[in-house]
Amino acid sequence: MGIYLDYAATTPVKPNVVEAMMDIYQNHYGNPSSIHNIGRDARKYLDDARRTVAEKLGAQPNEVIFTSGATESNNTAIKGLAYANRHKGNHLITTKIEHHSVLHVFEQLEKEGFKVTYLDVNEEGLVGLEQLESALTEDTILVSIMFVNNEVGTVQPMFDIDHLLQDKDIYFHVDAVQAIGHLPVDFHELDIDTMSLTAHKFGGPKGVGTLLVKNATDIQFSQLGGEQEVKRRAGTENIPQIVGLSEALKTATDELDDNNLHLMNLKNQFLVALQDRAIPFELNGSMIETTGHIVNLYFPFIDVETLLTLLDLANIYVSSGSACTAGSTDPSHVISAMYDKERAFHSIRFSFNEMTTEREIKQVVAELHKIYHKFKKEEV
Ligand SMILES: Cc1ncc(COP(=O)(O)O)c(C=O)c1O
Repeated sequence: MGIYLDYAATTPVKPNVVEAMMDIYQNHYGNPSSIHNIGRDARKYLDDARRTVAEKLGAQPNEVIFTSGATESNNTAIKGLAYANRHKGNHLITTKIEHHSVLHVFEQLEKEGFKVTYLDVNEEGLVGLEQLESALTEDTILVSIMFVNNEVGTVQPMFDIDHLLQDKDIYFHVDAVQAIGHLPVDFHELDIDTMSLTAHKFGGPKGVGTLLVKNATDIQFSQLGGEQEVKRRAGTENIPQIVGLSEALKTATDELDDNNLHLMNLKNQFLVALQDRAIPFELNGSMIETTGHIVNLYFPFIDVETLLTLLDLANIYVSSGSACTAGSTDPSHVISAMYDKERAFHSIRFSFNEMTTEREIKQVVAELHKIYHKFKKEEV
């Protein structure tokens, strides 16, 4: 099978999650909006999943909207908040290192007449609080900042950002996709207005996510039809997927501490082993404000496409950044914002999960060592 180190792109579905989903497919197939017994039976599973998600994320059940994934959640939140609050102002703030499901929405809103500030980040991928403060204007209605960056793993100072926005009439949206299962996430404690997540990053199925919307948030929903999700997202709920999400979230949050310890250890071992083998590299990101599951490295001796191909031939599966842009030859916008385009052409992302072993890490380092020596010789 080879060595899969691309868990930030997606994760395999956990066996307990598959089991819970199969039970719904086979035994609880009703439409939760049907009022007969079979419908009510399905509704129970939907309600239970909603309660679990709320409980695990520090939200109220009526603040949980099930979606088709984080792309939809980000689109719904950003457009919905911007359109509903346009009468108060037309200025929006985000960062240069967001996922494209955020960035492309802001680019679209700019075309529609909104003014958007894209905040810079430093070499660790951190947003400057002073820069954020000075970007705020009387017209600012929305700030959207991701919790954990999907390419470098940098964790933004959520509490400080929140503190800065406190007592201001400005909505705060957070793409928390890469934080789930890696950091404790409490929606109310963080005082976020809308938050996105997606099941396939923490052992759940693809095509299902959540948008949390704090009660009393002024937001416009655009998917019209039936009255599902309290008229906020029309369409028959995909209960097997939703139950899969809730089961995966339970496991991911319950095992968070043990997994974190394992991942941080792996990350350290990986970096130490590279140093021991004298392979030239630099870490893209922060050693402190980071999760354990993502390690993005700059290898000056080789370009990213060659390295990815050679690792693929050795059955080691990693990526140059977001899977959504994997087919593109453009350099990573995240590494370009943190450093420059040149560095982006030489940087790749390794991402781990709890199944990653020390042995796999050693094998990857041995392969990188081989590749380095081959290229070193060719350079001479
Ligand atoms: C930070 C971040 N936001 C959003 C998404 C999009 O999620 P989905 O695949 O559920 O649309 C991803 C997935 O790559 C991501 O890593």
